Amino acid sequence: MKTSLKSGMTATALLLSFGTAIAFAGPIEDRKAKMKEVGKQTGIIGKMVKGETAFDGQAALAAYVAMGNAGTGFGELFPEDSKTGGETTASPKIWDDRAGFEAAGKKFGEDLGAAIQSGVPADLNALKASFGSVAQNCKACHTDYRIKKN
Ligand code: HEC
Repeated sequence: MKTSLKSGMTATALLLSFGTAIAFAGPIEDRKAKMKEVGKQTGIIGKMVKGETAFDGQAALAAYVAMGNAGTGFGELFPEDSKTGGETTASPKIWDDRAGFEAAGKKFGEDLGAAIQSGVPADLNALKASFGSVAQNCKACHTDYRIKKN
């Protein structure tokens, strides 16, 4: 009885500290985690487009949807006090040109929204077309609003 109570308490303490860590994760960690997930989903479709994995329309649509979920709220994770630290690769240009950064995010959302709206892509060519339109946004925004770390 004593032992199980003790281990029960330890588990609760662990849960609490884990919960605290999540609650206190800052905007830099949050936005990086979002982008990491966007990158992961992009990779799923990218492999199909390159012929490294078999075309699967359902899986591609699911990846677009997951990309959208991960990207939601990304633009709100750039408060003034998050310009540096946490190994961020966000460029200072985000804060100098907030309107341009937001426009880039909006366009990404629109192109991704269009890809999702079209539903399950009929074939690989249809997927290539929507992926081209979605993926151009990654490079465009990264070129302007992300710095390369050495
Ligand atoms: C509106 C701008 C914008 C768009 C669009 C965008 N990104 Fe990003 N991305 C960023 C910024 C800014 C960072 C740097 C975040 C940081 O380090 O604080 C980033 C970082 C990343 C990272 C690194 C995450 C990490 O672990 O540090 C990956 C991977 C990534 N983006 C993938 C993508 C892919 C794939 C797409 C397109 C499907 C995309 N991004 C579209 C702005 C954008």
